[in-house]
Amino acid sequence: MSVDQSQEGRREESAGAPVLELRDVAVHFGGVKAVDGVTLKLEPGLIYGIIGPNGSGKTTLIGAITRLTQLTRGDLLFDGQDYTGVRPDKLVHLGVARTFQTVRLLPDLDVQANIQVGADARTGRGGSGSAAPRGDLLSRVKGMAGIGTTPPSPPVAAAIARTGLNGFESYYPTELSYGTQRRVEIARAMAMEPRLLLLDEPTAGMNQAERAEISGLLRDMRSEGELCQLLVEHDVQMMIDTCDYVFAMNTGKLIAEGEPREVVQNPLVQEAYLGRKFREHA
Ligand SMILES: Nc1ncnc2c1ncn2[C@@H]1O[C@H](COP(=O)(O)OP(=O)(O)O)[C@@H](O)[C@H]1O
Ligand SMILES: [Mg+2]
Repeated sequence: MSVDQSQEGRREESAGAPVLELRDVAVHFGGVKAVDGVTLKLEPGLIYGIIGPNGSGKTTLIGAITRLTQLTRGDLLFDGQDYTGVRPDKLVHLGVARTFQTVRLLPDLDVQANIQVGADARTGRGGSGSAAPRGDLLSRVKGMAGIGTTPPSPPVAAAIARTGLNGFESYYPTELSYGTQRRVEIARAMAMEPRLLLLDEPTAGMNQAERAEISGLLRDMRSEGELCQLLVEHDVQMMIDTCDYVFAMNTGKLIAEGEPREVVQNPLVQEAYLGRKFREHA
């Protein structure tokens, strides 16, 4: 990064700069333009949503932001600083955390120890420093004697309180409902003390009541502090209930953005969903 760019970054920051900025980001897989020229800005303290029919590029865009997916072109900026070349396992130090489309808790660790994995990723104590802990951390963490019975570290205690998991510390994932497992996954990400939290379909496979519960949790987390959340969902009602601002994607491009209810009523967005339904029924 040049001196000019970093000075510009600081100027933007003092003017209430976006936490995340994408400039003409594209990800092509051979001939498939999964993401094709996305430009957007996210500000702190708000919940953003990305909607769009299956295959519209939502997960690929999250992969690009979290550096798991190679960009074909474009720039990614965090706090005005270009981070396009940063490795995914270093993103947690920038302040980026994510949850995945499927629950990925460590089954042999209790709730508190699973959340501690997030805190350790932030401090580097857990070894890999990855924002997405893998199974190879398991033996290391298990080796830490009696971790579930010791009082939680401050970031873990804060994450437990913030996600409403008090009383669940010594439960194992298999003993919990799917909705509570998802809550633990969000708590693990929050233990990384992120400034940007990316959630890919956090309510996939949930019933209406569980969805409302997760929606309420995300709204509660919004009301505290400067956390920016970016949520991917195809449940449109969940997005209206949860998000402050929504982007709509179709075939790798943004086709609308703004207040959730307006975006959902946008004819281009309705056509994107309907067009797909028509094709499926053709
Ligand atoms: N690793 C990959 N290799 C090839 N094509 C991919 C890959 N990942 C996604 N795609 C394609 O990119 C498009 C967007 O996929 P995806 O980002 O998963 O959409 P969404 O999350 O909105 O359902 C789809 O056509 C999908 O088949
Ligand atoms: Mg997806």
